[in-house]
Amino acid sequence: MEALKTRIADQLERARSRTAGLADAVDDDDLVAQHSPLMSPLVWDLAHVGNQEELWLVRDVGGRQPVRRDIDELYDAFRHPRGDRPQLPLLGPAEARSYVATVRDKVHDVLDRVPLEGRRLVDDGFAFGMIVQHEQQHDETMLATHQVRTGEPVLDAPPPPPARSLVGDEVVVPGGPFTMGTSAEPWALDNERPAHRVEAPAFAIDAAPVTNGQYAMFIADGGYDDPRWWTVAGWEHRRSAGLVAPMHWTRDGDGWALTRFGRTTPVASDEPVVHVCFHEAQAYAAWAGKRLPSEPEWEKAARFDPATGRSRRYPWGDLDPTPEHANLGQRHLSPAVVGAYPAGVSPLGVHQLIGDVWEWVDSDFTGYPGFTAFPYREYSEVFFGPDYKVLRGGSFGTDPAACRGTFRNWDYPIRRQIFAGFRCARDLLPGEVR
Ligand code: AVJ
Ligand code: FE
Repeated sequence: MEALKTRIADQLERARSRTAGLADAVDDDDLVAQHSPLMSPLVWDLAHVGNQEELWLVRDVGGRQPVRRDIDELYDAFRHPRGDRPQLPLLGPAEARSYVATVRDKVHDVLDRVPLEGRRLVDDGFAFGMIVQHEQQHDETMLATHQVRTGEPVLDAPPPPPARSLVGDEVVVPGGPFTMGTSAEPWALDNERPAHRVEAPAFAIDAAPVTNGQYAMFIADGGYDDPRWWTVAGWEHRRSAGLVAPMHWTRDGDGWALTRFGRTTPVASDEPVVHVCFHEAQAYAAWAGKRLPSEPEWEKAARFDPATGRSRRYPWGDLDPTPEHANLGQRHLSPAVVGAYPAGVSPLGVHQLIGDVWEWVDSDFTGYPGFTAFPYREYSEVFFGPDYKVLRGGSFGTDPAACRGTFRNWDYPIRRQIFAGFRCARDLLPGEVR
């Protein structure tokens, strides 16, 4: 119990130092400014993180009096769309910082006193884990806000490692039963539950995410001008939005440059492409004679161990991610080139499923068989349905605490400001089945 409490306190602290770093990187004017109608002002994320922590850990788990009941409405994500948030009477930078610090003090006191058992919300520290993940998810959102912000660069990090192994083109994933989702992972969120058997035929999946170099060939081949590759909805969006290349790409002579956190460089052909929407991913896959993997296919490629038939927590096994396994946790501010993480490979030989870029899959966001909302419908359930597509695997901006082989992210199929790329899959040809 004490070890668990220490781990929770460490994780809370790690999340908070990241939140503070992302907020402190800019001045107060920048903190309250709106950098894109798609994003909240950074100061909103800061206080919202504290408000969720207050709601769940101070009031519910701790049974304490509210710190600031009057601001609940301002930081309820369902009350105000992101684009409207700058006009709200939000806490200013100093007030927001002092509010989150006050909440955190109380949370440490609650953590000291409350037994982490006897009530589903706190068993195995779940509510604390949920709040750690919530803050880390907003830290990735804040990083995405930094990416759309214009002005001088303010973030710095060492580059990701170079290629350390050769990576083949494709891997065949055998057919047969597979356990998807989890009932065992203590901090898994409701949409990852329960574990359930899925049955799928054998298929082939790319051993690595699609790279900038590959994507540039799709562009050069006229992929954005050929409706054959796009779905009806994708083509309509590609036209109305005037898409011609991934977000943040600009022409650079015959090639392309990209702007990342305020710095413009030529695109690196071996890096996974990022800042493409679902429709662009789907069109590329069609052009390449392939398709996107379904969500069960992606998870089977990531978790299935053919030697035992078991599903692993991560492609490399059951150990929590280390810097050797995957490009996670904002240690680097870009995806790593293909082949940079040989220690993270799956038993079947699939690379970089975790980290680098979120991967669009061709599945709507829905509940697994036996899903029950916990602890609130607004985390997952209200988003279920055909409007949202699933993304898997996490990005360089995702913390390990909010990334697992079972973790599910979702967004509208037109969104590109997130750190999203993809890999392709395909059905096996007749006679190719092993
Ligand atoms: C899981 C990333 C889609 O940011 O909208 C944050 C996570 N939920 N606050 C989001 C979330 C409530 C969510 N995503
Ligand atoms: Fe939130």
